[in-house]
Amino acid sequence: MKLYAISDLHLRHTENHQALAALAPRPDDWLIVGGDVGETLADMDLMLRTLTARFRQVVWVPGNHELWSMPSEQPPLRGEARYLRMVDLCHRYGALTPEDPYPRWPGDGPHRHYPLRYEHVRLPRIPRFSIWCGTRLTEDWHTRYRAEVVVTGHLHMPATLWRDGVRFEEVSLGYPQQWRHRGGLERCLREVLPGPEKSA
Ligand SMILES: [Fe+2]
Ligand SMILES: [Fe+2]
Repeated sequence: MKLYAISDLHLRHTENHQALAALAPRPDDWLIVGGDVGETLADMDLMLRTLTARFRQVVWVPGNHELWSMPSEQPPLRGEARYLRMVDLCHRYGALTPEDPYPRWPGDGPHRHYPLRYEHVRLPRIPRFSIWCGTRLTEDWHTRYRAEVVVTGHLHMPATLWRDGVRFEEVSLGYPQQWRHRGGLERCLREVLPGPEKSA
């Protein structure tokens, strides 16, 4: 039994939803979907319909794209009302959301979701540009709450980083030109638990 994570599915891109459709079922495993599924409720519905049929449990947290207000959607939904509609959609498919009690991971080891850390979002080639949107008050959460793995998305810069003995996983898929060379969604799924070092 494994816990996987993926974020930034960006399903408005045809190549991305084709990749989602091709993902093999993992009926014993859980999947964290870490935001940026897309801009519409239809994108969310497609993600939930596909992934809740292929994983034992899906856990969703919103990204910035889910929270954009789309004038093409009728009726137009904004802010909290839009977020709550997505939470309701998740519940209809049996997926967990930030509105649910913390789930207990039935496999090996604990996990939690965290905000981005500032030092992980600096872009060496564009030093004036930081895409950090967190708070310094959460800087020590990974040690204060004894996290085993910290999972984030949004950067479209998939990476495994270590700090204070804690593994930080950036689990983005991203736009087609960003993931094509990685060999498809199957290879972009990140194993959170038990984790590469324990399952090796
Ligand atoms: Fe994204
Ligand atoms: Fe994002």
